[in-house]
Amino acid sequence: MVRTLTRKTFALSALVAASLMATGVMASDKTEPRNEVYKDKFSKQYESWHDTAESKEIVDMLEEVPSLVVLWAGYGFAKDYNAPRGHMYAVTDVRNTLRTGAPKSAEDGPMPMACWSCKSPDVPRVIEEQGEDGYFAGKWYKGGAEIVNTIGCGDCHEKGSSKLRMSRPFADRAMATLGTPFDKASKKDKQSMVCGQCHVEYYFEKTKEKKGFVKFPWDMGTTVEQMEVYYDNMEFADWTHAVSKTPMLKAQHPGYETWQLGVHGKNNVSCTDCHMPKVKNAEGRKFTDHKVGNPFDRFEETCATCHEQSKEFMVNLTKERKVKVADLKARVEAQLVKAHFEAKAAWDAGATEAEMKPILMDIRHSQWRWDYATASHGVAAHAADEALRVLGTAVDKAGDARVKLAQLLATKGVKQPIAYPDTSTKAKAQAALGMDMKKMNAAKEEFKKTTLPKWDEEAKKREATY
Ligand code: HEC
Ligand code: HEC
Ligand code: HEC
Ligand code: HEC
Repeated sequence: MVRTLTRKTFALSALVAASLMATGVMASDKTEPRNEVYKDKFSKQYESWHDTAESKEIVDMLEEVPSLVVLWAGYGFAKDYNAPRGHMYAVTDVRNTLRTGAPKSAEDGPMPMACWSCKSPDVPRVIEEQGEDGYFAGKWYKGGAEIVNTIGCGDCHEKGSSKLRMSRPFADRAMATLGTPFDKASKKDKQSMVCGQCHVEYYFEKTKEKKGFVKFPWDMGTTVEQMEVYYDNMEFADWTHAVSKTPMLKAQHPGYETWQLGVHGKNNVSCTDCHMPKVKNAEGRKFTDHKVGNPFDRFEETCATCHEQSKEFMVNLTKERKVKVADLKARVEAQLVKAHFEAKAAWDAGATEAEMKPILMDIRHSQWRWDYATASHGVAAHAADEALRVLGTAVDKAGDARVKLAQLLATKGVKQPIAYPDTSTKAKAQAALGMDMKKMNAAKEEFKKTTLPKWDEEAKKREATY
């Protein structure tokens, strides 16, 4: 009698659990997404984490470097791209960027769910509740009321604890392909791996079984050449360039990969050694400073724990490296802008697919390498020599494309130099590409006014049930 009762109860609760899973309301017991919950228990960590809000300046990179609009023509980044700022703004910024558009429903584009993946501890929560299939299915709008807490405790820690974790299964799998899975890694390695969940190169899968999943292209290795071969072998393209029709790759932010190639990565100096140092509070008790930002702001606790040089010396050295990287980067940009327009001129003059193919491959590889170096934020500090090496090969490949284009244009009887449109400012470049910025901005403002408050309201109701 007792036994049947137990069995029945079990069957019933399994049924309830299954139906809760199906409706996606089975709360995760592994992730606490609300950072405020830790305010009192871990006050020093919480407060210093909250201070990432101080890095609030928005730098419009398209204003700074209008060539970017041409390089990314036909892709979201040509609409809007700002330099990174504090972790506290991750959700705000992905909501506000023109790249995510002004969708009106869960079926509306332009972006997929995967775009939330590096913004919030709600991401692991939803994955735990719905599986990766459930999480990645559908468009970005679908996650609006779910992904609301900015990058925080649950992204790097186990629930209620200071123990580090890989919160994202796709990052966990990728780390394992490099040799050492997270749970077997040393404490030091774990300190960098937690950052490597997001500060990496990744793409959105196009296979039927895993459509829209985030994957790191590391199966053949993590150098710029290895990832390039990986993408080429699958004939992967993030988008087709609107001017040159090149099948393009967009590098994300391979900071983890480039750090590994620098002198600090090679000596196993972790991201946290420089960006989250151990500091002392007023009572002299040590804790980890969670204000992830510029290491020079806390020079004594970062660089000076290992180096004897002065802060001024180190800051200037880093500045010099930034200037060198920026200079070579600008040279690639100038070459690539011309190559894209020359390719268009060749198409317009009747060039064939076969004639264009090797040229477009050069453009693809040049821009991928340029992007790998420049989108690895902080690369001048982490691995300047690698950035310069890669940018050198990017200049080379853009040069190859332009030599081939000059020959092809000559055989088609096109007068050279061709007429390049004026792309000297962000507005002029966007106009040259026929982008209706007024319309896009108006739709975004409407979206912010009507949709965002709805998302927040829904999220508040859901969180009240936790
Ligand atoms: C980007 C990753 C990251 C985020 C976000 C993060 N932590 Fe940490 N946390 C770390 C690292 C790295 C350490 C150092 C652990 C180690 O050395 O093993 C740490 C250490 C800690 C410790 C141990 C004591 C100490 O100070 O070293 C506590 C407690 C802690 N974090 C709480 C929090 C809380 C609370 C939040 C959210 C407000 C948070 N952390 C957000 C990465 C993170
Ligand atoms: C969950 C994903 C995620 C994790 C984990 C993460 N970051 Fe970030 N990080 C971001 C995003 C997204 C931004 C850009 C935020 C914005 O501009 O809105 C960013 C910005 C930054 C910035 C720029 C800050 C500024 O003020 O300009 C630094 C530096 C940084 N991260 C370092 C780290 C380090 C070091 C770690 C590990 C201890 C880490 N991040 C872990 C996603 C992440
Ligand atoms: C945990 C120890 C550690 C910390 C913290 C650290 N470094 Fe280093 N650094 C090393 C080691 C190890 C090397 C390589 C061996 C050597 O040159 O002594 C190195 C080498 C260097 C070099 C010479 C190699 C090169 O890149 O030309 C520079 C410059 C440098 N570090 C700058 C910095 C700066 C700036 C900071 C702070 C933002 C910093 N380091 C923080 C350990 C550290
Ligand atoms: C040796 C110290 C050191 C290590 C180790 C290190 N960084 Fe940095 N990082 C710096 C310095 C210095 C800067 C540049 C600060 C400046 O702009 O003056 C920087 C810049 C950055 C930026 C760009 C910030 C911005 O606003 O543009 C990001 C993002 C970043 N680092 C992430 C990481 C990640 C992720 C790791 C580990 C994979 C890491 N860093 C390892 C010293 C370090």
